[in-house]
Amino acid sequence: MFTDIHSHFVYGVDDGARTEEMMYAMLDLAVKDGIDRLVSTPHVTPGLKRFDVDLYERHFEKAVAYCRDRGYGIELSQGAELLYTPAADRFIIEEKIKTMDESDYVLVEFSTNAALSVMEHAIDLLECSGYQPIVAHMERYACLFRPGSVEKLDAAHDIMWQVNAETIVEKQGFIHGRVINGWLKNHTVDFIACDAHDTKHRTFRMKQAHKILAEKYGQDYADKLTGAAE
Ligand SMILES: [Fe+2]
Repeated sequence: MFTDIHSHFVYGVDDGARTEEMMYAMLDLAVKDGIDRLVSTPHVTPGLKRFDVDLYERHFEKAVAYCRDRGYGIELSQGAELLYTPAADRFIIEEKIKTMDESDYVLVEFSTNAALSVMEHAIDLLECSGYQPIVAHMERYACLFRPGSVEKLDAAHDIMWQVNAETIVEKQGFIHGRVINGWLKNHTVDFIACDAHDTKHRTFRMKQAHKILAEKYGQDYADKLTGAAE
């Protein structure tokens, strides 16, 4: 059974599930994929769009009730995927960031062309404010593909790194694939997560990813990456 720390199944709050029915269908798929712990991480975009906390809470509770009624043994918890924007600084300093399941962990994403210095500033600020950053889908950021970038950040900060299951399952370009393979070989990556947004194109692929990871990098690391070890 797996833990998925990155998911957009709560409907009507971001670009994830659009309807209540789609949310329920996504939960069915998560259970089918062997996920027994699933963190809801809707996009939070400081300064760009107001996040409706009440709506989120209401829809999240519907998801919990659905799983209970169905007899699913899946544990749902709340989190957020923070898009780092200039306006995010104030929210971080004022400690108004939604963490994962009331821990210190914050799932943070950047624009794909973010400079390494911007990423480092955000990570620094998060750490200084008592948060533990998890960088969402690290394979999306061009700056991390420059040799030594990840090592530089890792040397100075206590960062955790997440890669999407889809990236493991789908064939990657030669250079891209080689760098990602290096991160996995060195055990730089801490989490594989599905980042599911729907039931078709961006869905749950943990079982598939786990199988590939176990074959390529060993059972223990595959279990650790997917929460199967816990
Ligand atoms: Fe996401």
